Amino acid sequence: MNIYELRLINFRNYYNLTIEFFPYINIIYGDNAQGKTNLLEAINLVSTGKSFRTSREKEMINFNKDKAYVGAKVLGENFEKLIEIKLDKNYSKKQRINGKDVKNQKELYDNFKSVVFSPDDINLIKDGPNVRRNYIDNLISNLKPTYQYNLNRYNKILFQRNNLLKQNLIKIDRNLIDIFNLQLSKLASTIIIERMLILERLEEFSKVIHSEFTANQEKIKFQYFSTVKFDKKDPIEIQEKTLKMLREYEKMDLEAKTTQIGPHRDDIFIIINEKDARVFGSQGQKRSAVLTIKLSEVELIKNETNHYPILLLDDVYSELDENRKNYLNRLFKNVQTFITTTDVNSIGDLSSLETTKIKIEDGTYIKS
Ligand SMILES: Nc1ncnc2c1ncn2[C@@H]1O[C@H](COP(=O)(O)OP(=O)(O)OP(=O)(O)O)[C@@H](O)[C@H]1O
Ligand SMILES: [Mg+2]
Repeated sequence: MNIYELRLINFRNYYNLTIEFFPYINIIYGDNAQGKTNLLEAINLVSTGKSFRTSREKEMINFNKDKAYVGAKVLGENFEKLIEIKLDKNYSKKQRINGKDVKNQKELYDNFKSVVFSPDDINLIKDGPNVRRNYIDNLISNLKPTYQYNLNRYNKILFQRNNLLKQNLIKIDRNLIDIFNLQLSKLASTIIIERMLILERLEEFSKVIHSEFTANQEKIKFQYFSTVKFDKKDPIEIQEKTLKMLREYEKMDLEAKTTQIGPHRDDIFIIINEKDARVFGSQGQKRSAVLTIKLSEVELIKNETNHYPILLLDDVYSELDENRKNYLNRLFKNVQTFITTTDVNSIGDLSSLETTKIKIEDGTYIKS
């Protein structure tokens, strides 16, 4: 799977651009504030329907315009597709594949998969549990359609249970809370199991990648930390334990006016050399760990779908030492990769790979 042409109209600092890409490694270089990250953002938008920089998608429309367009020609094994996104200041976003309207994000992703790594991704380790939960939920949803449905149902029932708790009734509606407890525990079990399974898969790849990436200096592990206490990764047991705990916590939940146990409060620990990276990891260790996770995601997607996603690496090289740079570069053989940098000499040895360089200057490009 690869993208061979991108058209941008009034997208960020690009007024009108048609650019062709190389199926292997595209090195996007140029000074600061020229539009390198904007270009990766546009490519990723076509794949996910979202920006990796902002949740306010209208920010992507050029300051002086009301509408923006992103169109990508994507090549699969035996298909060619035109994927288009239209943004409008006054209307909601429109997405089309080969001229047909597409409603959900998964449909875009099924046609064009990408994995992005940007400097802000270090927040995956630094920030609170919700960032890690979102990451993992997104990953599962993109591979398994029923997961998103179950997650939405869980959140809806959770919202209803919390509303009930907020009413602070002296005699709470027993029947109703029991129904919520039961429904929540069933869905909680599915969600927890799916998360643990994907984490195990991701860990298999991460172990190998990370030990090579760090020249055997670091061992990485992931641990699913659940607020529901259970012994075995067994759906029935998790369901029963969730139900039991929801009942036990009822009084405390009433005081707190919110539900305090369940997958919406769970976390994922990223452990390097037996220590929690969030607490003890250096800046470089955290960055490398996130990069390992993203590279594992590439392998996981290949494994699950039989196709490699494209890889978007925004400013990755600045904090990596020479060994890590060179190891990273060896991984790109099968994957269409986009690398942004201000300095083409800083990206290590790419001499054995097929590369092309694209210079970005003030929202236009110069190919060399
Ligand atoms: N909606 C917008 N309309 C017009 N210009 C925008 C918009 N959003 C961002 N820009 C401009 O795009 C420019 C470049 O952004 P970008 O982040 O792509 O730079 P970059 O080449 O990645 O730089 P760096 O090397 O510093 O990361 C900035 O000057 C910014 O002001
Ligand atoms: Mg940038």
